[in-house]
Formats: sequence, structure tokens, C-alpha cells
Amino acid sequence: MRSDDLELLITSGEIEKGVRELGARLTSIYSGKRLVVIPLLKGGFMFASDLVRSMALDIQIEFLGAASYGEQTRSSGEVRLTLDTTLPLKGRDVLLVEDIVDTGLTLAYIQKLIRSREPASLRTVVLLDKRAGRQVDVEVDEVVFDIPDRFVFGYGLDSPGGFHRNLSDIVTVKE
Ligand code: PRP
Repeated sequence: MRSDDLELLITSGEIEKGVRELGARLTSIYSGKRLVVIPLLKGGFMFASDLVRSMALDIQIEFLGAASYGEQTRSSGEVRLTLDTTLPLKGRDVLLVEDIVDTGLTLAYIQKLIRSREPASLRTVVLLDKRAGRQVDVEVDEVVFDIPDRFVFGYGLDSPGGFHRNLSDIVTVKE
């Protein structure tokens, strides 16, 4: 993919500011509590690593992995668990950290799984919300950016073939 074909959608500076503000809000929401933060892999790794550093709380980290897109740009509609947690979540305050909600299928699947483990509370934060893509109703507590119905990648999200997760900005292909 040539860089001339890419259009900058959200800059690293805008992301940094949005994530810092979210971290401050979460710090006050969870004040005095011990929290289990679960980045949803793979896409959520970069957002989560910046977010936890902007939260002044006692945090444990667990990981969940889910995949439904494979190397395609459209959801297969079939979500697979690719990695599971190691700590019991029963009775814990859990914060699920996701890069993007599109159809909602991934979050619906993962939230159901976490709830079946009876946490004391579950909140979900997403960096990007592509509302136009929604196929199922899903609860999202905090959204950093609403985005249009375009295929985006960078800052943890991959382009077809699994590349470009390491970009600092979020980009799309020029139409
Ligand atoms: C992407 C993204 C979200 C999900 C959102 O994951 O990271 O988890 O799709 O789409 P949805 O709302 O339509 O379910 P993907 O399956 O590409 O796996 P990855 O995180 O490993 O890239």
C-alpha cells in the first residue's frame, strides 16, 4: 500500500489527548477500587497500553483475544476466542478495552463471556465507534472517537494481511 493512497483520519496527537482524558475520567469513576483491565487482542493492545498509563489506579491486566475478520475487511459474522484470561473474574471490577466496535458482534460475544464469570461490574471502553456498521445492540460505556463507515487501520488496527498495526495515526484508504 503506497503512502500516497492513505488519508489521515485521526492523528497521534488527537489520540493521545482523547486517551489521556478518558484515563482521567476512569480514574475518578473507579477511585479507591482495584481494577482488572482486559485489553481485547489483537487490535486493543496499543490503546490499552496507553490508557492504563493514564489511569492512576491499582490495576491488574488480563488479556482476551477474539477474531472474526481474518484477513478480510468485512466481519465473517463468526467470532472465535483466540486467548482466554488466567485470573478469576468473579467479584472483580472489570474494564474491557477494545479498539473498535463495528457490527458489535465481537463485543456482544466477549461481554457475554465475561458476564458469565460474574464480575462485580463490567464497563466497556472503545477507541473508535463505527455506528453505521452496527448489526447487534451492544453496551459501550465510553467512546473516544466516532468514525464514518470507512475501513480504518493503524494504532493497533490492522490492514488486510495483518499489517500497519504499528502506525501511530489512524488512517483510511483514499476513496
Ligand atoms: C476487529 C477489532 C474488533 C472487531 C470489531 O477484530 O479489533 O475486535 O473487529 O468488529 P465487530 O464490531 O464488527 O465485531 P478482528 O477480528 O479483526 O481481530 P484483531 O483484533 O485480532 O485484528
